[in-house]
Amino acid sequence: MTADITPTTGSHSAILSLGVYRPDRVVTNEEICKTIDSTDEWIRTRSGIRSRRFAGPGETSVTMATSAGRKAIEASGLDAEQIDCIIMATSSHYSQTPQAATLVADALGLPGPGSFDLSAGCAGFCHGLAVASDLIRAGSSRHVLVIGVDHMSPSLDMTDRTSAFIFGDGAGAVVVGPSETPKIGPVVWGSDGAQAHAIRQVPTWMEMVVADEYEHPWMRMEGQSVFRWAAFTIGKVAQDALDASSVTVDDLDAFIPHQANQRINELIVRGLKLPESVPVADDIVETANTSAASVPLAMEKMLREGQVSGGGLALLVGFGAGLAYAGQVVRLPETPVES
Ligand code: UT7
Repeated sequence: MTADITPTTGSHSAILSLGVYRPDRVVTNEEICKTIDSTDEWIRTRSGIRSRRFAGPGETSVTMATSAGRKAIEASGLDAEQIDCIIMATSSHYSQTPQAATLVADALGLPGPGSFDLSAGCAGFCHGLAVASDLIRAGSSRHVLVIGVDHMSPSLDMTDRTSAFIFGDGAGAVVVGPSETPKIGPVVWGSDGAQAHAIRQVPTWMEMVVADEYEHPWMRMEGQSVFRWAAFTIGKVAQDALDASSVTVDDLDAFIPHQANQRINELIVRGLKLPESVPVADDIVETANTSAASVPLAMEKMLREGQVSGGGLALLVGFGAGLAYAGQVVRLPETPVES
């Protein structure tokens, strides 16, 4: 008879710490409106955005991720060599090979962790968190660094008024590790590939190579289609994530949805019947949509401003390119946040 597989480790999982990176350069709506036919008032009313941060010269997804990752490791109190895996959720590492996670691992001086990139658009961080949690629970990893990072600004056509104002740059990282009690609930995730065209790179790299007509690949978004999909789908995803963890809206200390559009989040809140006493992340106002970084950045703002305390129960939900979504209930990290 063959032996059963018996993991030597394996436990519940928790977010142990959080670190973020916000680029210095603040870009106002007025600056965006220099190249598109729009107004500050239109952008604020339709999306909630007042400003965003753009990365400076020399800054990339790798440098931003490294900075956020270093802060998360410091806040965790762990030694760097205790991180045995890095998951980098990003759609804007502008080189197909090598993957960004190994570059970040090297920059952080980690001695050869498992490292891979995860591409799930704006839902990337919640996907990465789910994978990290399950790696720990299965005994495959002990401490996983999950980084949500996107460097959107180089992919924006600043003359396209349907997308130029929406996105910003940034990074947020968490260390996920073992816990005596469950502090990361089951993920609820899914996708609708039939709507893949709604957020996409135009042209693809191969179209760019074979045709002379293109100078630059841009991120294109069919905003209305994505809005309708999100408004219709994500409320149910959020409720399913609560149900999967056997908690109700009354148990929540915070709701941290992807920062794509304040109006979408208001619709989700209404659909959930979220009590008014539960604070809702509003980082979009000054950070815009940072894609895979938006959920950890929004988490950091809420903790920094005292809207919620460490250890509080929060519902996370990410959604976007794919179209794909992922959400889960978590206990927020209790260590001081590295901003
Ligand atoms: O993170 C990934 C997931 N992304 C999202 O979830 C984004 C979802 N979509 C959205 O957030 C919204 O669709 C936008 C904020 C992008 C756009 O808002 P909207 O309310 O859906 O605008 P719309 O596309 O329906 O356009 C309404 C009007 C149109 O004019 P008419 O046809 O009513 O005369 C547009 O031509 O606004 C016009 N318009 C603008 N006007 C001023 C479109 N873009 C602009 C603009 N400034 N930038």
